[in-house]
Amino acid sequence: MSKGLAILTSGGDSAGMNPAVKCAVDYATQKGYEPYLIYDGLRGLIADRIVPASRELTTGMLHRGGTLLRSSRSPEFFDIEIRRKAYENLQRRGIEKLIVIGGDGSFRALNQFYADFGVPFAGIPATIDNDIAGTDYCLGVDTALNVIREAIDSIRDTASSFSRAFVIEVMGRHCGYLALTSALACGAEICLVPEMPYNLESIGARLKHDLANGRKYAIAVVAEGTKMGDYLTRYINDSIGMEARLTVLGHIQRGGSPTVLDRVMAYKFAVAAVDALDEGQTNSIMIFRDGNYSHLPIQEVAEAKYKLDPALLRLAAPLSS
Ligand code: F6P
Repeated sequence: MSKGLAILTSGGDSAGMNPAVKCAVDYATQKGYEPYLIYDGLRGLIADRIVPASRELTTGMLHRGGTLLRSSRSPEFFDIEIRRKAYENLQRRGIEKLIVIGGDGSFRALNQFYADFGVPFAGIPATIDNDIAGTDYCLGVDTALNVIREAIDSIRDTASSFSRAFVIEVMGRHCGYLALTSALACGAEICLVPEMPYNLESIGARLKHDLANGRKYAIAVVAEGTKMGDYLTRYINDSIGMEARLTVLGHIQRGGSPTVLDRVMAYKFAVAAVDALDEGQTNSIMIFRDGNYSHLPIQEVAEAKYKLDPALLRLAAPLSS
């Protein structure tokens, strides 16, 4: 009897999605499943863009950034009649289980689908924002951090050559994880994230003091969620009197070949997802917490809010005052 299991990527793409797909296909096959690929995320599930995961389709994908299955954000999935169409597409092929690689919005959508039609799913957290509750790690984060690190190292060349301040805005939506971690890793002087109070006056006084004592340039990393990039740049320029420029790194942070860490994490999450489904889990999310891999029911992930590591916040606190 065929045991169809389909894999899709959904929401913002992130490095590590491709190795997760490949590993899920290989491991599911070993476990006796018939794996399928769903193209274009939830939109493809509705539009029936579902194909058997042939060797040809999954060869040469693991080193590629983004998602070769492509992705989408699909508000139409909130319509029950549209979801019914998606269910019929699965039923026709004997697909009984799903693996969704994406963020918590995608997990919630699949949970609704499970509530409607009883199709079990396993979620693999993948977003550069690293903002999914219950897991310390989401696929794509290490690759994004390395892209940011390289960009800041390059910007530092101009900052030091021209004695300028550079404010670098990084992604993360409402979460400051990328900003906080890259500010520490890149030796920034200033860091603003939504989760940490900041005081522009004391930052300004500190900068002025440092400039009077030989500082020639400065790097500030700002999380997009603070919406402070432009303001901080003008503040440094106009109130501190130091020439300042703003660099918004943008979507460059989502791209790039997955790092070794993202590839290995992708494998571990993919194996955990297939095992969870095989053990009869119906709607669980794979997590990596305190060095261990396991899974949590979707409710615990969807209802909680991701919290930044207090130790990281303490380390970065001097950068925000
Ligand atoms: O969730 C990933 C992310 O890259 C966020 O960091 C960012 O705010 C958002 O997606 C950008 O969305 P879009 O690609 O739709 O512009």
